[in-house]
Formats: sequence, C-alpha cells, structure tokens
Amino acid sequence: MSGDAVGDETLMQLFEAARWAPSSANGQPWRFVYARAGTPFFARFHDLLAQGNKSWCSRAGALVVVISKKVFDNGRPSPTHSYDTGAAWMSLALEGSALGLVVHGMAGFDYDRARVELGVPEEYAVEAMFAVGYPGRIDDLTDVEREREVPSGRRPVSDSVFEGSFGG
Ligand SMILES: Cc1cc2nc3c(=O)[nH]c(=O)nc-3n(C[C@H](O)[C@H](O)[C@H](O)COP(=O)(O)O)c2cc1C
Repeated sequence: MSGDAVGDETLMQLFEAARWAPSSANGQPWRFVYARAGTPFFARFHDLLAQGNKSWCSRAGALVVVISKKVFDNGRPSPTHSYDTGAAWMSLALEGSALGLVVHGMAGFDYDRARVELGVPEEYAVEAMFAVGYPGRIDDLTDVEREREVPSGRRPVSDSVFEGSFGG
C-alpha cells in the first residue's frame, strides 16, 4: 500500500456495502472498529499485529477489527454469526476492490489484547482484522514481500464440493 490516507467518505462507503449483507433473521451481527492512518488510534491497532503483518501494514490507510455478536438481540445463540459477519466483510472487500483499494484480511494479531484494548464485551467474538489502503509501488516492498506478490491459486472445485454426502 502507498501510505495515503483513506478518506472518511470512502471508508464509510465500504461500511455501507457491509451494512447490506444478508444475515440470519436479519440479525446483522457484524461490528467494525477502525483506526485511520494519522490518528492516535492507528498506532494502537498497528501494535496488535503480528510482526509479519506490521511491516506492510505501516502503509495502510486504515486498520479495522471485525467483531461479531454471538447471540441475537433476544439472547438466543446465533449459529451463523461468524458466517454472516464473513459475508459482510466480503461485501466490503468487493466494494473496496471495485474502488481500486487494497483490502487484506488478517488473522495475525493478538486476539486477546484486541478484546481488552478495544473493550469488546464477552457476547461478541473478535473475528479478524483487515487493512485497507491504496496500492503502493512494488519497488517499495522488501525482497521478502515482493516474492510473495504473486497470485494465489485455489484447489479445484471437486475438492470442496460433494454430491449427496461429505467427501472429505
Ligand atoms: C480471515 C483472513 C485472515 C488472513 N490473515 C492474514 C495475515 O495475518 N497475514 C497476511 O499476510 N495475509 C492474511 N490473509 C490473506 C490470505 O493469506 C489470502 O487471502 C490467501 O492466501 C489467498 O490469497 P488471495 O487473497 O491473494 O487470493 C488472511 C485472509 C483472511 C480472509
């Protein structure tokens, strides 16, 4: 990423895309806590990251923690809260991609510290973080980072999709 700030309006456009995701009983369990580059919050969020993520995330325009409410508003447990929040994240990521932004999910951060430092209550799950920013120049990457900048493959559909019963 380039290090350019992602403006408030653009950031809110991403969250608006997430807002319209489908969810079980329209429970909308997703919550997002964000820190924009150049604000005092950014260093705090950045410090939650694992070392490997810290270097490339220093040039993010914003860092976001994705949180999911584990129960419906009536207290009943939601078996699909993570699934619904994942759908919201994907909507957001597609919107960002359409706008020419980088939106990169992360599990490499301190989940326990994120919960404490952001004040996340027990009935909410800390799901993931993501970085959002404008694409940077390939020359600004470290050698290790540059080597990783190749398209990722996927296993064939037949390895994930089965007729009739679970195929392993
Ligand atoms: C929930 C989630 C967590 C991830 N965690 C990290 C991470 O901590 N660090 C990282 O560099 N990439 C992370 N990724 C990126 C994945 O490694 C990447 O999406 C995957 O290898 C497929 O590559 P592609 O998205 O470029 O097609 C994460 C992605 C997701 C969706």
